[in-house]
Amino acid sequence: MKRHNISLQPLGKELQVNDKTPLIDVLHEFGIEFPCGGKGACGKCKVKLLNGCIEVSEIHQQKIDQLGLSPEWRLACYSNCTSDITLEIDQFNHLILADESEFEFVQESGFGIAIDLGTTTLVAQLVDLSTSKVLAVETALNPQVKFGADLISRIQACLDGHAAEMTRLIRFSIGNMIELLLQKQNIEIKRISIVGNTVMQLIFSNCDVSPLAQYPFNTSNLGPKLFSAEYLGWNFQVAENVMFYPSIGSFVGSDILAGIAATGLHLSENYTALIDLGTNGEIVLGNKKQIVCASTAAGPAFEGTNISMGMRAVTGAISSIELIDNELSANVIGNVAPKGICGSALVDAIAIFRELDLIGLFGEINSGETSLCINANISLTQKDINEFQLAKAAIAAGLKILCKIIFIQLSDIQTIYIAGGFGNYINVHNIVQTGMIELPKEKIRKMGNTALIGAKMFLFSNDETVKDILSKTEHINLESDPNFQDIYVDKMLFN
Ligand code: FES
Repeated sequence: MKRHNISLQPLGKELQVNDKTPLIDVLHEFGIEFPCGGKGACGKCKVKLLNGCIEVSEIHQQKIDQLGLSPEWRLACYSNCTSDITLEIDQFNHLILADESEFEFVQESGFGIAIDLGTTTLVAQLVDLSTSKVLAVETALNPQVKFGADLISRIQACLDGHAAEMTRLIRFSIGNMIELLLQKQNIEIKRISIVGNTVMQLIFSNCDVSPLAQYPFNTSNLGPKLFSAEYLGWNFQVAENVMFYPSIGSFVGSDILAGIAATGLHLSENYTALIDLGTNGEIVLGNKKQIVCASTAAGPAFEGTNISMGMRAVTGAISSIELIDNELSANVIGNVAPKGICGSALVDAIAIFRELDLIGLFGEINSGETSLCINANISLTQKDINEFQLAKAAIAAGLKILCKIIFIQLSDIQTIYIAGGFGNYINVHNIVQTGMIELPKEKIRKMGNTALIGAKMFLFSNDETVKDILSKTEHINLESDPNFQDIYVDKMLFN
């Protein structure tokens, strides 16, 4: 297959992709957001074509015209790579929030670095504090993955005596990313903001994770952690400090705190929810007066864990499935041969199999067979379907219980933001079809990395935002609700 080079400016990144690779597949790995979910409506994913050619389909041209863009612009969400190209990423010229608005900030001199420390991936962005422009991006895999993919295995590895090694690895890796960011720039860093889940925070900070391994699974060590670069063993200067932002609860970390800031949920008159379909399946619900949040057991299935052919939303994963002329048509990230299926395609497959009446009310395969084929090599087993039911029930039940706690109806929620690694690919219609979110699809907005957006906002804030969010937010243990089991079991059914 033909390969093409993509050069990303002003990041100075070069990458090689297969012919016809959709730009959305490669750009979101660099922290680029698709605020309207790739519908061609917001124009925020526009890229300037500095060199090469991107073919423009009729619908793409219509969207370009509707947005009033001049001829050199393309919408990344409608573009495929069919030749060597050089692109200027417009989004990095200003910070865009999850509600598609631009971020208002107080200008100051100097530079900051925002870091999303994920269980699986790490993203670091170098930000000019006088303009809020992103000047450079680095991404990497969390080196702790060798101790296990999920949080439980990371906690277990700490208990098995690897805690110091995991702390050393993650500090080294992030320090290395920052050095790469600074390589081409002769600048001094003023401050660094890091967000991540509670376990990641504790391991980075060399704190004890063992309270999270035993009942009642609570740690009181949730506060912010401040460091100097020198203390972390980094060979560069940070004029102020490195801040790992506070967690909200034992399994709701500062990545969710940042997500709340990015969506503006804490300032909204209307009830708004944020659901992160990442590792923990966190749910946040509230408005400017009150916020409740919880973690659910939903995460692993959507990250590909426990699904027989499951994988994360990376090259080779089937990211979406459609039914065209009664045939399943699968889209594969990176336009390569499929290796497995990621969370968004899992949702699609279940919704379509339900629509075709191949899956029954209780999740059973109606034919009595043990699996359903997606294509020649990829299939869903009965166990995969049951895993999905557990995950979707965890989200649906979690949302219902949080509504109950703040005395509102599900229908009182005005907007639900979906964040998570595969947020860009998720089909909102199918989320509703499967019963994961029992609201009209018009209320659901998919959003990529809200944690990273929030981490960038924190570079500019005087911590009033953080205090405001924390003072309004209550962490809920869903299982302490007396009706939890009944609600959970009920939500496992397909209606
Ligand atoms: S136009 Fe909104 S994401 Fe592309």
